[in-house]
Amino acid sequence: MPSRKFFKWSWDSAESQESFVKTVGFDDPQKSYLQVKQIETLLNLKPCKMIDIGCGNGRQTQIFAREGYDVSGIDISEKFLREACENAKKENIRVHYQRMRASQLRQREEYDFALAYHHSIGFLSEEELPLHFAGIYDCLKAGGIFLFEMAGPKLDGKFIPCKSWEERENDFILVDKKIERGYREELCILIDKKTGNIQEFHEKQRAFSLDELKNILGAAGFKDVQTYADLEKTPATESAFGVFVCIK
Ligand SMILES: C[S@@+](CC[C@H](N)C(=O)[O-])C[C@H]1O[C@@H](n2cnc3c(N)ncnc32)[C@H](O)[C@@H]1O
Repeated sequence: MPSRKFFKWSWDSAESQESFVKTVGFDDPQKSYLQVKQIETLLNLKPCKMIDIGCGNGRQTQIFAREGYDVSGIDISEKFLREACENAKKENIRVHYQRMRASQLRQREEYDFALAYHHSIGFLSEEELPLHFAGIYDCLKAGGIFLFEMAGPKLDGKFIPCKSWEERENDFILVDKKIERGYREELCILIDKKTGNIQEFHEKQRAFSLDELKNILGAAGFKDVQTYADLEKTPATESAFGVFVCIK
């Protein structure tokens, strides 16, 4: 008899992490390399001491390390970090990975550059949100750069509200997304083609406005915050934003 299970989506849960890999997934090496080059151009960045906040499977950390950066990466997912460590070992690359939340960062004035790419802050509690950005601010040296890149009002490349379904190798994926009263709500149903088992993920995350994000970064201490719609420096607007270049 096929089963049907319900989950509240959270980065802390192993089932949610697996569903992220199945439905969204990490960008491939080619895309990752292009992003790193775009970041270097945008920031006029040269090899330095850096930290990747929410580094996932380490796809960008390893490219930066190959380019000569001294790289650390933190994430809350044991599964993603295991993959990152295995890849780094296979490629003979040195990256210092640590399992922790950004709000638990205790390093002070240690990094020249902090990266938070495809960064997801909508699930943080109101109490954790300021600690998250304070941790990032504090770990940077004076004059250090924080690049914060996130989906903005456009999520997963699609404007919402939207309903979609897709057939993949092992699953059917049904998605329903909407934004209501400042929150993005998503229902994602995964149906295993072999067993018929259903996993139903209910996701609710805060959908920030451009001004809210500028205020949050300002409150963390960043005085100079440039906002763009993309890495090509297209100026940000309330309906198209996602790149924040912040100087300590
Ligand atoms: C959308 S993924 C992006 C991963 C990676 N930066 C990339 O571009 O491929 C977001 C990542 O942030 C991690 N994450 C979520 N909340 C976090 C937190 N509070 N502190 C550290 N990492 C977090 C998740 O586990 C996940 O790996």
